[in-house]
Amino acid sequence: SRLGRCAVTSNEPRPFVVGNWKMNLTEAAAAALARALVDRLPLDRIDVAIAPPFPCLRAVIDAVTGSPLAVAAQNMHWEPQGAFTGEVAAPLLSAMGVRYVIVGHSERRNLFGETDAIVCKKVGAARRHGLIPIICVGEHEGERDRGRTREIVAAQIRAALADPAPDPVLETVIAYEPVWAIGTGRTPVATEITAAHGAIRAELDLYFGAAGASIPILYGGSVTAATAAALLRAPGVNGALVGGASLDAGSFAAIAVAAAAC
Ligand code: PGA
Repeated sequence: SRLGRCAVTSNEPRPFVVGNWKMNLTEAAAAALARALVDRLPLDRIDVAIAPPFPCLRAVIDAVTGSPLAVAAQNMHWEPQGAFTGEVAAPLLSAMGVRYVIVGHSERRNLFGETDAIVCKKVGAARRHGLIPIICVGEHEGERDRGRTREIVAAQIRAALADPAPDPVLETVIAYEPVWAIGTGRTPVATEITAAHGAIRAELDLYFGAAGASIPILYGGSVTAATAAALLRAPGVNGALVGGASLDAGSFAAIAVAAAAC
């Protein structure tokens, strides 16, 4: 596993890059992209996960079998089964071979009413059912303008980790994604990213103690092949969560190479 490879010898997170394909691609196109990535990504040097739409998971898992490229779900329900029409349960995903699940993406929060309380329930369910949550946090533009970024992301982390019965499994990934930077071509300056990551890191220290130092904090929001190197060099950044640019094998591979170089 990711931690098995890095935490034993060092507490520094290993670089991690995640491609969030969102509501794009057909099953055949998703499988083709996954196959192209297996050949192009520097998987010996960094960890990478790809997050296809639910109906493409089987084809993508089959395409990456035997490679270290991991598969993530973009969302899930917090209950393990039941009468929840249209929802997908964590045990179903882990039984398929899905390793990660994105939780609390700003599109889920803003377009589908996902609250901090729901994010917390999903984080707990992911852990209980063997999925590693990729917890997304980030401020809106108005909050940034009022200087509230650190306070907002710290509160989102506290809420996401507020499960009253957390199991001791540390495997967790955080993604700092300013809402105003997602899909806009705009990005924060390095000092803003480092400040936000510092606020998140302080919360992880409180919650996990020294062991939390191995939890990667990714930056997300308009990461492209052109911007990746500068964004990934910001102190405190351990990788990237990539949306639009993850749909092109060449662009995503270039981002992964930039992450490996950091
Ligand atoms: P973007 O999306 O890279 O297209 O800005 C990032 C995300 O939503 O995770």
